[in-house]
Amino acid sequence: MVQLGVYVVLMGECRQKSAFIPFSYGPRACVGRNVAEMEMALIVATVFRRYEFELYQEELETREGFLRKPLGLQVGMRRRRQ
Ligand code: HEM
Repeated sequence: MVQLGVYVVLMGECRQKSAFIPFSYGPRACVGRNVAEMEMALIVATVFRRYEFELYQEELETREGFLRKPLGLQVGMRRRRQ
């Protein structure tokens, strides 16, 4: 629970708030933003609490373009033992 709290605080940092604007901006911006961010943090925290992940490759290969595009990443996902 402490870890989730830290994550929620980081999400609320002004650096993140001004760099990412999916909830629009101004007086008609999304009123559900805080609820949505809390739910997303909860989902991410729940996934990492329930599952462990394992990388199956050493490096992430990319293709150059307008942006650098990742070519794929093999990751294993296993339910953690209780
Ligand atoms: C990932 C989740 C969400 C995204 C990306 C999102 C995004 C947005 C955006 C972009 C707008 C502005 C639309 C416009 O310009 O007309 C908006 C408005 C709104 N959102 Fe969300 N939203 C999310 C979740 C939620 C949730 C969970 C709620 C309620 C609990 C909510 C309630 C509202 C309401 C009531 C408005 C209208 C605000 C107004 O017109 O004054 N949204 N949302």
